[in-house]
Amino acid sequence: MTDETQVTDAEGDVVSAHDAGTRTAVAMPVARFDDPHMREAARNPRQAEQIIAVLMLIGIAGIAGFGAAYWQNAAPWIIAVTLGVGLFFLGFGMTAWGKYLMPQGPFVEERHPLASSDDERQAMAAALVERTGVVVKRRRLLGGLLGGGLGIFGIVAMFPLLRSMGPLPGDALDRTDWKKGTYLVDSNGRRVRSDEMEVGGIMTVYPAGLENTDAGQAIDQTVLIRVQDTAFTTVKGRETWAPLGYVAYSKVCTHLGCPVGLYERELELLVCPCHQSMFNVRDGAVPQFGPAPRPLPQLPLYIDANGYLRSQSGYDQAVGPGFWERTNQGNGTA
Ligand code: FES
Repeated sequence: MTDETQVTDAEGDVVSAHDAGTRTAVAMPVARFDDPHMREAARNPRQAEQIIAVLMLIGIAGIAGFGAAYWQNAAPWIIAVTLGVGLFFLGFGMTAWGKYLMPQGPFVEERHPLASSDDERQAMAAALVERTGVVVKRRRLLGGLLGGGLGIFGIVAMFPLLRSMGPLPGDALDRTDWKKGTYLVDSNGRRVRSDEMEVGGIMTVYPAGLENTDAGQAIDQTVLIRVQDTAFTTVKGRETWAPLGYVAYSKVCTHLGCPVGLYERELELLVCPCHQSMFNVRDGAVPQFGPAPRPLPQLPLYIDANGYLRSQSGYDQAVGPGFWERTNQGNGTA
């Protein structure tokens, strides 16, 4: 007669301790369903397993459908949907498996102390001396030097990071080369007169003398547009900025910095070719469409006694995108 203890496996089946032992390579304590580590759903593991199996079958069908759709060069949306369904349901099934059919932690395993005893250390030292003929000692000096070497290496390794960042920009990014009285010139350096553009005309202009410089081409570039043949006001407070209907705006898009060089004359819109931001030139280049977050800065103009167009001052705010996207309207003085 055998005296065999009966236990219950994780699925609720009654098995002998012998059977339980042969099913697993290492004898593990059998999980109890009232164990606080087990979730409620685990108390009905067969039902949970069936639901998870259905989820995974749907996932497998999705992946198979994705393969077939890809093979047949089906429409992109079919490929996307089948792949999405496959990944979603397979992932859902795996997650549910771990969540509802596995014990939940935390688990704690006691460990023996890691440090060797004095006897073990002495035995180890004696064995080394015996086998090598060399007495192993602590080398505090060398250890200290090694630590110092690693420390100084860590500090020096940061130098390229700090040094390669270059000097601080200061307020250089806030300002352009436009100043009070600067002549507007075209790309050939020719001064622009107030009587040479028709209504609806557009021209790229630069500060005199800087038309061929990097700064001139990058941050100073400005579009000059003749909206009408009489002075007008784009924004309250800018009553004198558009003499004889000329307005000037920064050509650097406030979205990502592309040159805003297209002009839709009928709609009086400046258009950025990169992402189609549109700026209304009559009302201060406020964006009408697209991702640009703020208006193009306006350059205040005047016409001197000889009929040349000149700037009253620099831009009243920084041009372009980036950190400049701080406000919708600038109010400083550049
Ligand atoms: S850079 Fe002008 S809209 Fe994007």
